[in-house]
Amino acid sequence: MKRYLYKIIDFPHFDNENGSLAIFQPKDVPFNIKRVFTITDTKSGSTRGGHTHHKTIQVLVCIRGGCIVDFDNGKAKKSIALNKPYRGLVLYPYVWHTMRNFKPNTVLLCLANTKYSEKDYIRTYEKFLNCLKSTK
Ligand code: TYD
Repeated sequence: MKRYLYKIIDFPHFDNENGSLAIFQPKDVPFNIKRVFTITDTKSGSTRGGHTHHKTIQVLVCIRGGCIVDFDNGKAKKSIALNKPYRGLVLYPYVWHTMRNFKPNTVLLCLANTKYSEKDYIRTYEKFLNCLKSTK
């Protein structure tokens, strides 16, 4: 099974001396959006994520502030700094991801293709590696 690592989507945006406007429309997202959530009020030094999913695909957009997202698909690892209010990072299923180095007042917007289900989570790295072996 091909394991995608990530994709960047630059959403349409209009920036001028009066401010910036970014537009998030279903046609620019590679799945049907079933859920939108935000992560805010992160403390400096805190981490979020530290898991992956069986089915959920997400687009993370740092609409304010910035953070680093570390992710890997069991073969390749990558870290991306998210700090543009129009830049989306697509995280596919079976991509282990952690967010860290939050700047003050960071707002992370997340679009997802699933309803929330705890069963969709893989919350230990060991289980993640086992899943990769069993879904080869
Ligand atoms: P979690 O996804 O573990 O947060 P993070 O990856 O940012 O560290 O979710 C934290 C808690 O919120 C967890 O108890 C599940 C709950 N939650 C929902 O109920 N619905 C949701 O859509 C999400 C994303 C989380």
